[in-house]
Amino acid sequence: MPQIDQPLHDGPKHVAVIMDGNGRWAQKRGRPRLFGHHAGARRVREIVRACPDEGVKYLTIFAFSTENWKRTQTEVAGLMALFRRYIQREAMALLDEGVRVRFIGDRIKLDDKLVSLMDNLELLTSNNDKVHLTIALNYGSRDEVTRAAQRLAVEIEQGRLSHKDVDAETLSRFLDTRFLPDPDLVIRTSGEARISNFLLWQSAYAEYEFIDTLWPDFTKDVFAKVLAGYGKRERRFGAVIA
Ligand code: IPE
Ligand code: IPE
Ligand code: MG
Repeated sequence: MPQIDQPLHDGPKHVAVIMDGNGRWAQKRGRPRLFGHHAGARRVREIVRACPDEGVKYLTIFAFSTENWKRTQTEVAGLMALFRRYIQREAMALLDEGVRVRFIGDRIKLDDKLVSLMDNLELLTSNNDKVHLTIALNYGSRDEVTRAAQRLAVEIEQGRLSHKDVDAETLSRFLDTRFLPDPDLVIRTSGEARISNFLLWQSAYAEYEFIDTLWPDFTKDVFAKVLAGYGKRERRFGAVIA
């Protein structure tokens, strides 16, 4: 029998994070919401850097959802400017630190300048393998699965695939996340216990942690605590474990 404070299994290899609470963090300080988003971006830097020590090989972060366009024009424009700036400022450090960056989500609605920065960062870091950082930008699971189904339908229509070939494995290969293992742990900050259209298919057997901390307060120590808690959970994947 493992000791009560001994982990039952290895730490999570793939951690996905719904970085929520930037707006409330700013509001509490009487500042505009964008002030919270800037503070949140600084935490991203800290958490990415903590991954190698924590044994986290894949980190996937939810930066902007397909539903976030419903926010004010000021907030959306401010967030898009922040994403451009983040890529420009962080590119060299990410390259040096061995981080491979990839983006998931539909690029069609993003402006050309941002898309070319995203493409360049993916290419620049494509030989890195220390940490795989995936940024979900204009991402929504229903949109992702719908786009995958459309591409699958084209393959069938054009005779490259038969409907008999369509199984979970094949569908996974058409998702934006085709290069990623499934997440072991999904963390959502800010006290909301919902998924908000994030990695629905991929997280079928993930563990979830909903924590009250607002994203700009999510330090590497909080991260380490959440990861330690994960080690105490028993994962069964539908089986019975004696
Ligand atoms: C998460 O923080 C960041 C994005 C959705 C871009 P929020 O902006 O949702 O912050 P709250 O939930 O309003 O506090
Ligand atoms: C989810 O947070 C999206 C991101 C963190 C980017 P939201 O704040 O948009 O989600 P809801 O509206 O509370 O469900
Ligand atoms: Mg929110």
